[in-house]
Amino acid sequence: MTNTTHPAAKSAGIAASISSAGRVLIVDDNSVNLLLLAKLAESVTGTPAVTFEDPVKAVEWCKVNEPDLILVDFMMPKMNGHDFIRAIRTLPCCDDVPIVMVTTENEKAVRHEALEIGATEFLAKPVDVPECRSRIRNLLALRHAQNLLRDEKKLLQYEVEIATAAIVERERELILRLSKAAEFRDPETGAHVQRMAHYSKLIAKRLGMPASFQQLLLEAAPMHDIGKLGIPDYILLKPGKLTDAEMAIMRHHPTIGANILEGSDIPLLQLGEEIARTHHEKFDGTGYPLGLSGENIPLSGRIVAVADVFDALSSERPYKKAWSPERAKSFLMESAGTHFCPVCVNAFIGAWDEAMEIKSTFTDTETVGY
Ligand SMILES: [Fe+2]
Ligand SMILES: [Fe+2]
Repeated sequence: MTNTTHPAAKSAGIAASISSAGRVLIVDDNSVNLLLLAKLAESVTGTPAVTFEDPVKAVEWCKVNEPDLILVDFMMPKMNGHDFIRAIRTLPCCDDVPIVMVTTENEKAVRHEALEIGATEFLAKPVDVPECRSRIRNLLALRHAQNLLRDEKKLLQYEVEIATAAIVERERELILRLSKAAEFRDPETGAHVQRMAHYSKLIAKRLGMPASFQQLLLEAAPMHDIGKLGIPDYILLKPGKLTDAEMAIMRHHPTIGANILEGSDIPLLQLGEEIARTHHEKFDGTGYPLGLSGENIPLSGRIVAVADVFDALSSERPYKKAWSPERAKSFLMESAGTHFCPVCVNAFIGAWDEAMEIKSTFTDTETVGY
């Protein structure tokens, strides 16, 4: 687990919590009491308290500020202490801030109700100065501990997010390198892999698949021919037509690819395995290696089949000239329902302009990272 920026973040967070654990809000309609309590609070914290004679304004202030301790009178016009506490406890930033209600000794029922709705402590009127100071000190210490805990929790969440992102990034890098290793043995170009991956994503998008699936498909499609690592050079690099025996060996590449990728709990590799195994299946059941047909072929395999063949046809290879995009498109349409899934063909043709943009972006002489 990397830990480079965390100590700074941690100390900054803790410093913030220490400095913020001293803001006292005092609400009392009696200006003399307000001043007395403010002086007491300042003698403990060393910083001026925030004071309001009007509880409604104090609630408004709390909507954009976060006090560390609130002292509130009970008997006030507009809003009594109970109503004030209720309003404060609905604010996300104040749901656990300590609240001290200042009441006269004989208001037992008032105290009980205040406890019910979220008061933390009481101070009796007239205020006893030493008692008030130690209450303020103790409750600010409690608040400080709460802030520390909250910061630790945030820090842990942050560390988990960083670590998870690093793992995902490493998975991607490994897969990219694995695909590159396969490219070294495959006469097909890196640009082919990028174009067919983007065509695949485009088809998935056109079919209304979730963005997460589109992205996974973009990253998994380059692994479709990874099984060619297991095909001998005399077949893989043969310039002419393969014999039946050579073709039989070549047809093992989907299974070899699936075997390389199988057994992983990483979603990207799982999809890569599915694509490697099924990208040569045909909609009418005449494909290989399993002879699956129709929707028994996973959607990823049906999509990649369209994207892969279209790109192979419309690109130049050592043994053939490139077909024009229009000719390759006609081939897809003629083969919809036999070789290809018709829904996937329609989706691809429906996004023709975007497909042509992909074709011109990833050319055989110039590759752009995805
Ligand atoms: Fe293949
Ligand atoms: Fe391919």
